[in-house]
Amino acid sequence: MNPKPNRRRLLIASAAALAAPAWLPPALAQAKNLRPTPSQTEGPFYPVALPADSDADLLKNGNANYSKGQPAWVEGTVVDLAGVPVSGAVVEIWQCDHAGHYHHPGDGSRADPAFQGFGKVNVGRDGRYRFRTIRPVQYGGRTPHIHVKVRLDRMDLLTTQLYVAGDPGNERDFLWRRLNEDNRAALTVPFAPGSDGIRAIFPIVVQA
Ligand SMILES: [Fe+2]
Repeated sequence: MNPKPNRRRLLIASAAALAAPAWLPPALAQAKNLRPTPSQTEGPFYPVALPADSDADLLKNGNANYSKGQPAWVEGTVVDLAGVPVSGAVVEIWQCDHAGHYHHPGDGSRADPAFQGFGKVNVGRDGRYRFRTIRPVQYGGRTPHIHVKVRLDRMDLLTTQLYVAGDPGNERDFLWRRLNEDNRAALTVPFAPGSDGIRAIFPIVVQA
């Protein structure tokens, strides 16, 4: 692994610590100790080959526009346990189309060709990522979910799944039910109407 990004973040963390207000008592001025986002199984449908178009807009695949399902923004920040943005991380998401099909031979490769199904974002200094996709739908025995992976250099930092708060399928889902209360809270977020459509905010904490 290339140690440079870690050293760079350490320097940023040190700078952040130095920048803490002088009036804070030492205990409060120390870096946070955040709880890492819980991991979950990758599932069987990670793309065999990444699509030619694998940007942050899953509603446009090449020249094709996808207008099915409910459009949604999925966004957040990637920070380490000290709350420092993990600059250089890559966030990937993949999910099924409005009819519950993945772009994967294991699912018959029958997903709507206009739906990108997979996207990735390079996280910048502010730690932010943002995807344009659809509110996930249920398929088979699964409650609606979006698969999420976070990488740094060649290392996988996190593989997990994101769920929709209040979806009636959650209580019946074999993976969601296995989560304890804290982990459910960390992985289950509202897909709420906002000024520019449905929006889900998913904060990601990784050990980096
Ligand atoms: Fe899935």
